[in-house]
Formats: sequence, C-alpha cells, structure tokens
Amino acid sequence: MSGSGIGHDQWKTRFGFMLAAMGSAVGLGNIWRFSYVAGESGGATFLLIYLFFVLIIGIPLLLTEFSIGKAGQMDAVGSFKRLAPNTKWHLTGLMGVIGGILILSFYSVVSGWTLFYLYQYVTGAYWTEPDGGFGAAFEAWTSNPVAPLFWQALFLGLTILIVMRGIKKGIEKANNVLMPALAILLIFMAAYGLTLDGASEGLVFLFTPDWSMLAEPSVYFMALGQAFFSLSIGICGMLTYSSYLKAKDRLPAATVGIGLMDTVFALIAGVMIFTAVFSYGVEPDSGPPLVFIILPSIFEGMPAGHIVGIVFFVLLTMAAFSSALSLLELPVAYVHRTLGLTRKAATLTMGSIIFVLGITASLGFGVWSHIQINGNNILDMMDNITANVILPLGGLLMAIFVGWYLNREQAVKNSEIESPILQKVWYNIVRFLVPVVMVVILFISLFDI
Ligand code: PHE
Ligand code: NA
Repeated sequence: MSGSGIGHDQWKTRFGFMLAAMGSAVGLGNIWRFSYVAGESGGATFLLIYLFFVLIIGIPLLLTEFSIGKAGQMDAVGSFKRLAPNTKWHLTGLMGVIGGILILSFYSVVSGWTLFYLYQYVTGAYWTEPDGGFGAAFEAWTSNPVAPLFWQALFLGLTILIVMRGIKKGIEKANNVLMPALAILLIFMAAYGLTLDGASEGLVFLFTPDWSMLAEPSVYFMALGQAFFSLSIGICGMLTYSSYLKAKDRLPAATVGIGLMDTVFALIAGVMIFTAVFSYGVEPDSGPPLVFIILPSIFEGMPAGHIVGIVFFVLLTMAAFSSALSLLELPVAYVHRTLGLTRKAATLTMGSIIFVLGITASLGFGVWSHIQINGNNILDMMDNITANVILPLGGLLMAIFVGWYLNREQAVKNSEIESPILQKVWYNIVRFLVPVVMVVILFISLFDI
C-alpha cells in the first residue's frame, strides 16, 4: 500500500488512538513532576501560566505534531523525509528519537521506584513509618546500587513485552484497560483528598495566584517545559502515534480531547496532592521526593491510609506505564524501519539501550552522586535537558516546519480543521505566536537562569 511505511501497523479505532495518546500524555508528569514543579514555583501563579501555555501553545502544537505524523504515515524521521524530501528537516525527528530514549531512561528509574513503593504497600512494609522515617527510607532505597535496577528492569521488561506486540495488539489493547482504570482511581483519590480537614488551604495554594510571582522569569520557563512534558509534545512520540491512524480518522476533536484530559488529570492530581500536603502541614516545595517521602507519611496518618497508598501507587505505576509505551514506541518505530530489524528485535535492542542509560541515572542517587552540575544529579540533568531544551526546541522546529516550510494550503489540509475561522486562528498561532513566544522565553531564561 502506497500510503504507509514498511509494515506500518494501524490503530483499530480512533478511540483506541485517543486512549493511547491520553495514556502517553497522562503520566508521572501529571503527578510526580507537576506537583513538585508547581510546589517549587509558587502554586497558583505557576498553574495559571501553565494553563495559558497549554491552551495557546500546547494544544495547537499537539495538532501540529499529529498533522505531520498523519500526513507522513511513517516514524519520526520517515514522516519528515516524506513531507520534505532532500532537506534536513528529518533531523527534527532524529532529535525526537534521541529525546525519547533519554526521557525513558530516567522515566523508567522513577517508574521503578513507584513499582517498588507499590510492592511495599502491598506487603504492608510502608503502612507504618520505617525506622528513621520515610525520608531516610527513600534515601537508603535510591542510593542502593542494585535493588532499584531490578525494579527499573522489571518496569522496562513489561513495557517491552507490550510494545513488542505492536500497535493494535499491544499498545492499543493495554491502554484500553489502563486508561479507564486510571480515571476511576484518580477521581476516587481526589474526592478523598477533599474530605480531609484543612483541604481548603491546599486549594488556596493551588488556585489563589500570588501576582508578584508573575515578575519571576523562571516561572514562565518552568511552566512551558511542564506544558510540553505533560502533553508529550516536541519529541515526535505523538507524531509516531498519529502515523498509525487511518485516513478517515480526523484529528482536531481528538487533539482537543487529549489536551483537556491531560490538563484535567494534572488539576485533579494537584488537588489530591496539595490538599493532603496542606492538611498535614507539610511544605509544598519539597522537590522531586514529594511523592515518595511526603505522601507516604501523610498516608500513614490517614484513616485507611494503607488502602489509599496502594491505590495511589497503582495509579502512578499505570500512568507511568502508558507513557512509557509511547516513549519506547518512538525509537522502536524508527529502528524497525531503518535497520530492517523485526519489531521484536527492535524493541529488545532499544529497551536494552534505554536500560543501560537508565542505570547511570539510578546510580546518580548513590555511588555516582558526586557527578553533579549545579546541584543536579544525572537524573535531574536528563530531565532538564529533555523537558527544558529538547522538547521546546522540537516543538519550535515543528511550528516552523508547518508554519513556514509547508505552504498554507498543505498545512491547513493536514490539520484537518474544517472551519475557516479556526483554520486561520490555528495557522497564525503556529506560524507567528508559537515561534515568538518561545524565542522570547528561551532568551529570558538564557539570560536569567
Ligand atoms: N507526558 C508524559 C507525562 O506527563 C511524559 C512524556 C513526555 C511521555 C514525552 C511521552 C513523551 O508523564
Ligand atoms: Na502529562
């Protein structure tokens, strides 16, 4: 068939695609990353700027990325090659593939922790505070050179097993189960959070902006990076997913649905976490360990806290898992085509490379903790490089590609927007607003941070 790449699989239904793309979007980013970045960047002011970026940049760019993959019908690199033959645009796809490998390397480390915490809740080990407290337990756990690698490998192994089976039989099927379950668990958790005494302080922190924070340049930078990371845009993972769509499956409504769902998840997760944090009198800016140190001690003091703990870590693991599927599929699709490997071999190869890279991030908490730049360990560096550089740069390049390289007619046609007014709005956002806003923010942050 001329319309698709070598052995290009397809989604069974558009809804299956939507669930998978939501699965990619909703992840550790919504819960673990969102809560500590929002906590460190002032809560409500950060949230407001984040929401603004999601609406004016995130969702239009998500459609931009989908439109490239759907029109290109190939992996990250191939889609650019098909739409822009004999140019260097495919390097955008290559950067995405590298970004995906890097993200999954550290993502699988944190996912390994969540799996281990889940295990500790199932066995009852963390129902009560371990000797020395949850902080010391987290330190001891993450600095152990061997045990976290086992859980990281287990998590990656499961991811490999699903991705190996392909789109329809692997990724789509898995998300059909994961996403509805995730939605139910999250609503349960947020509703429970709202019943806690003192929950309203958390809501104030999350929803009452401190306007003086608007003058703080780093807030914009962090909010933009978080918007990209949370929506999975800029590294061609979403592009790869959209390349498996059938021609008749339209993009625009699905895109808005995916963007809104990710945002709703982040908001509910924020409510769940900050109501608990404030209700138990904990500082909201405790950084990355927030979810692993603060929440367990909060769960301990809650009525039926061990159940809440189990539910929470099941939720976190499932959210991480559905994102990991998309992060692995991105490089797998690329090497599957270019190296002529079977899907199985491609998945095993990429999974192993990612595992080895992830080992460095894991050891960065223990034996290699002396390797630091500005107080950032290896995992922080991988996180910062991807979320704050590769993703925004990839998004900017895609905006320029669609807004300036393709002509208007092609760009609009690929977007599948029907209303002429919306076509105009979207096209001008992609062509002018996104590049301008992003260049300004990159500049501010270069000179300020
Ligand atoms: N969006 C995911 C999250 O919020 C992370 C991710 C980024 C997944 C980029 C795929 C691609 O956790
Ligand atoms: Na997300």
